[in-house]
Amino acid sequence: MAPYKRKDGYYHRAKEEGYRSRAVYKLKQIDERFNIFKNGDVVVDLGASPGGWSEYAVDMVGEGNVLAVDKERMRDIQGVSFHKGDVTDENFVRRISIIAGDVDVVISDMSPNITGNYSMDHARSVFLARHALKFSYLTLKDGGNFVVKVFQGEDFKEFMDQVKKSFDFVQGHSPQASRESSSEMYVIGKGFHGSR
Ligand SMILES: C[S@@+](CC[C@H](N)C(=O)[O-])C[C@H]1O[C@@H](n2cnc3c(N)ncnc32)[C@H](O)[C@@H]1O
Repeated sequence: MAPYKRKDGYYHRAKEEGYRSRAVYKLKQIDERFNIFKNGDVVVDLGASPGGWSEYAVDMVGEGNVLAVDKERMRDIQGVSFHKGDVTDENFVRRISIIAGDVDVVISDMSPNITGNYSMDHARSVFLARHALKFSYLTLKDGGNFVVKVFQGEDFKEFMDQVKKSFDFVQGHSPQASRESSSEMYVIGKGFHGSR
């Protein structure tokens, strides 16, 4: 059975502040701690729907550009171009990487459909995170940043080690806004330098 999600303080705050999802506070807290965005950045938001992260990113990049990608539809956000498709589909990814050009920041909040089976959910989450990392290899500029959600479990360390090969700084982090969900972590990679 899927875990019951409480409508907590962040849910109500998102409603009050006009954001589409409480997830926005996870990215905000990550950004406040790790300085992910700067004015003028090109950002790709993978697994963007319903759009809280894209709403935050578009505010942070000013004259920059935000491309949002999801296999589900997303209502328009001013200043964000939305592309519907599956990040595990190679042809779609190639197309998006051409549209995006050189990217400063790749963010991914992609989640599998939660089954409640801990190891299956973990494995599917790592699978999506690896696709997000692959996308960052294709598009990130030198010095670019990466934020990706991964459910903790046996393959978490291996995934972190893989990210460490391509970024100067890598850290796993659980923002306060995600603490209700015990297995959700974000891996932050800063200073992309390709795979050495
Ligand atoms: C937790 S939601 C993202 C919430 C979003 N960050 C926000 O702030 O509103 C996870 C999203 O990942 C998307 N997703 C899962 N697998 C995907 C895939 N293979 N390709 C594209 N999107 C995917 C889902 O459709 C879902 O909309």
